[in-house]
This record gives sequence, C-alpha cells and structure tokens, in this order.
Amino acid sequence: MKICCIGAGYVGGPTMAMIAARCPDIPVTVVDVNEARIAAWNSEELPIYEPGLDAIVRTARGRNLFFSTDVDGAIRDADMIFVSVNTPSKTYGIGAGRAADLTNVELCARRIAAVAEGDKIVVEKSTLPVRTAESLQRILRANGSGHRFEVLSNPEFLAEGTAIADLERPDRVLIGGESTPSGHAAVQRLVDIYARWVPRERILTASVWSSELSKLVSNALLAQRVSSVNALSALCEATGADVEEVAAAAGRDSRIGHRFLNASVGFGGSCFQKDILNLVYLCEHYDLDEVAAYWTQVVEINDWQKQRFVRRMIRTMFNTIAGKRIAVLGFAFKKDTDDARESPAIDVCRALLAEHAELAIFDPKVSAEAIRAALRQAAGLPEAELDRRVVCGPDVYSAADGAHALAVLTEWEEFRHLDFVEIHDRMKKPAFAFDGRNILPHDALRALGFEVHAIGKPAVPRDLLPVQPDAAALTAGGARLSPRS
Ligand code: NAD
Ligand code: UDX
Repeated sequence: MKICCIGAGYVGGPTMAMIAARCPDIPVTVVDVNEARIAAWNSEELPIYEPGLDAIVRTARGRNLFFSTDVDGAIRDADMIFVSVNTPSKTYGIGAGRAADLTNVELCARRIAAVAEGDKIVVEKSTLPVRTAESLQRILRANGSGHRFEVLSNPEFLAEGTAIADLERPDRVLIGGESTPSGHAAVQRLVDIYARWVPRERILTASVWSSELSKLVSNALLAQRVSSVNALSALCEATGADVEEVAAAAGRDSRIGHRFLNASVGFGGSCFQKDILNLVYLCEHYDLDEVAAYWTQVVEINDWQKQRFVRRMIRTMFNTIAGKRIAVLGFAFKKDTDDARESPAIDVCRALLAEHAELAIFDPKVSAEAIRAALRQAAGLPEAELDRRVVCGPDVYSAADGAHALAVLTEWEEFRHLDFVEIHDRMKKPAFAFDGRNILPHDALRALGFEVHAIGKPAVPRDLLPVQPDAAALTAGGARLSPRS
C-alpha cells in the first residue's frame, strides 16, 4: 500500500505525518502545487505552527514521509489518494459567499483520472458538500482509462492548535463508502490504516452522504454553541450577570457539558463560517428555507458580536478613537496556531481602522507580513496609510507604549502573565483594557488603575473600585502586579 495526499496544508501535512509515523511500512507522499510550502515541509522551519508537529514530522520524514511538488508522479505511484485541498467559499457567481468553491477538488479528480495507471482509492479529506463524491466519481469514470476508482469520504475533525493530540486520540474517525462489495473493501483498507493506533470502536463507517454531511453538521453544532454563549454574553452585560458563572452553571449539566462555552469576541478560522454557509446553501438548494435561516443566524450573531465589541470600545473611549493608539494583543484566530484565516482580529482591526484608530499589533506566532497582508486586503487602505497606522511590534510592551487601550483578541497563555505594572506605566491614562477572550486578571488590573471591559461581564463602576490594590490582586495570574512605589 502506498499513500499520496494532494494538499500540504493545515490538514494534509499533520494528518499524513501522523499516518506515516504510526504506519512505518506505508510510504506516504504529500504533494502540493505550492513550491514554497513543500520546500518548508522539507526544511527545519515547517510552514505551519502546530504544537508537537515538529517531532512527528522528524520521526517519519525521509523514512516513509515525503513532501514533493511532483503531483503526477505521486498519484501514479499511490494506491490510495487523499484529497486535502482548500475548499473556500465561492467568491463569484451563483452561491457567491456561501457555496463551497470546488475548483481545486475537481482539478485533483481530473488530474488523478489523467495520470492513473491502475485502480485507485480516492479519499475526500477536504470538507465538501453532500454528494460531492458522486461528482468526483463521474469525473473519474468519464476521464479515466478504464481503471476502477472507489471514492471514500473521510472528513477531518482536528482543530488547529491541538491537531497532533486530536490525530493521536481522535474522538472518532469517520469513513463513508459506497454500499457495494468494492466499496466495502475500500472502506476496510482505510479502516485498517487507522486501526493501527485508533481503538476500533472509535472508527465509524457510514454511507458517503452521511459522512460528508456529518462534517458540516459537526462544525455547525460547535459554532452554534459559541454563538449561543456569545449571544447570552450580551444579556449578561445588560443584566449584571457574569457569563463565565452562567456557562459554568449550565455546563455542569452533563447533557450540556462544559466544553466550548467560552464567550469571546467571536469565532474565527477557515472552517466554521465557511462550513455553516455551505450548509445554509445546501438547505436553500433543497428549498429548506427555515432550516437555512436557522443556521444563518449562527453566523449573524458572530458578526454582531465582533461589531458589539468594537462599539463598546468606541463608546467607552469617549465616543472617538480617531488618532488613538490601540495595542492589539493577538491576531491568530485562536491560541497555539499561526493561522489568522477569518480571524475575528481581522474584522475588529478593520472596524478600528475605519474609525481612524492607530494599531500596534502583537501576536506570538502570526508574522508581521501575514498581519499586514490580511489587513491590506480587509481594510482597503492605501499602502502608505496602512504603514502609518498599523505597526506590528516585537512584544506587548512596545505595543502598549503610548496606547490608550489594550484589546485582547486571541487567548494566548502568555497574555495572562504579563507585567501589567509596566504596561500600565507605558499607557496613556485612563488606561482601558478590552478583554475579548476573558483571560486577563480583571480584578488585579482594576486595582492597578485599568478600566476593564470584558465579554459578558458587567463593567465595574469606578466608585466601587478599591482605592488600594488588595493582596489577592497583587498576585493574581502570577504576574508582577504590585504598583511601583
Ligand atoms: P490549506 O489552504 O492550508 O491547504 C490546502 C493546500 O492545497 C494548499 O497548500 C494548496 O496549495 C493545495 N492545493 C490546492 N489545489 C491544489 C491542486 N490542484 N493540486 C495540488 N495542491 C493543491 O487548507 P487546509 O486548512 O489544510 O484545509 C484543507 C481542507 O480540509 C479544507 O476543505 C478544509 O475545510 C478542511 N479542514 C480544515 C481544517 C483546519 O483546521 N484547517 C480542519 C478540518 C477540515
Ligand atoms: C474547528 C473544529 O473544532 C474542528 O473539529 C474542525 O475539524 C475544524 O474546525 P478550529 O477552527 O481549528 O476547529 O478551532 P476551534 O477550536 O473549533 O475554534 C474555532 C473558533 O471558535 C476559534 O476562533 C475559537 O477561539 C472560537 N471559540 C471556540 C470560542 O470563541 N469559544 C469556545 O468556547 C470555543
């Protein structure tokens, strides 16, 4: 058995590295049209940041894990071909902004059909609309030279930042195949690969359609949870309740569960919005307008949450942020990744720039170039203006220099343990802290003189603040918080 994977991105790279590490006897070649990305996979500086990835790649690379730009050669050699290319929302024509753009997937199918010299199992790893396998099958049959192609659906459920742990101990592996003898045999071959390290009871098999739809549904349900708690965070702010206490109380019910109930500035990432909109588009296609409207609301609440955060910043800072420097802490869509695709930080920064604010942005893993590229596209400002109004600092302290406010947009652990005395000293007064992830030590910051605004938490009126920081505040978060005397 030889494996090839088309697409060396956030999914293709780590998933294939895991398969290669766990199955030393199976040669795995990951191919991509992006030469720079392949060069990086073959270097010491991997193209994506993912905790634990380096070690897994080092175990297998050069032994049975290979990265190459020779797409045709790898297809020809392989018995099983994973298609793990990007499937963004369409940006043009019918279904623009909602339907999945399947151009890359179709190109892969046509390439496989063109160069295959024998039977192949083609595995959909990309997230795809229901019934895509049918289209792939037709393209492969129509263009192949008489070889047999079995198309399986094997959606990936890893989350960025925890990809290696998710791949090592997945909650489930899902494999969809056709209900024919050759379909069953193909499913079994893929089951046998995962069964090398995944307990058999966690490997689920299903029809292709169920498998394809399950992926969209899983992401929709997860995103719905975040939008639900975010919607309630607004109610908490209005009523004086604390969203963390409310979520903790509700989450204690084992039917609800405590995970994925962290109120935030909004969800981001390359998957949630794209997959929900894809689901919405599917519902509309099948004339299920009420179902489509239900799921659309998950995305709308997410957009509203980001706008609400910015509006609160402006209102709090005396109704104008023009010319004010704002230190933006975090740009990645979540901690432990360098990925800023669809990050809430992009929308928040765009809105702040539209109000003529000046931004000093720091993220531990997203490069200054990536931040500038994202904002160049989103903000639509002339280059010189962008240069003047956006700086990407080497650390939080330089970002805070002369800033009127901190805005925490990613929940990086290191933001919990900063020297807030120094940060406060460097900032203009009053010093505002807007915590879009509820990770800062709020009471301690207030004791230092910060005015803190957090998601789903009541703002504490100034006259209720302690005059002197109390002992607990001085050690909160493990940070050096005592004011300099
Ligand atoms: P990505 O953009 O990081 O990687 C995709 C790669 O495919 C790119 O390097 C691109 O150059 C390559 N590619 C595109 N067309 C190609 C072609 N015709 N031939 C060769 N290479 C080609 O994307 P990703 O984040 O890895 O996502 C891939 C798929 O997995 C998507 O469908 C996504 O929805 C799904 N998914 C992503 C995640 C995630 O956390 N990122 C999780 C689960 C599922
Ligand atoms: C998601 C799914 O979790 C994963 O199963 C799927 O394969 C791909 O899409 P990912 O987007 O990498 O993974 O990260 P995830 O942890 O789901 O977070 C998505 C967004 O929701 C992030 O912006 C995160 O900060 C936000 N989030 C998550 C919250 O705001 N609150 C939460 O409680 C959880």
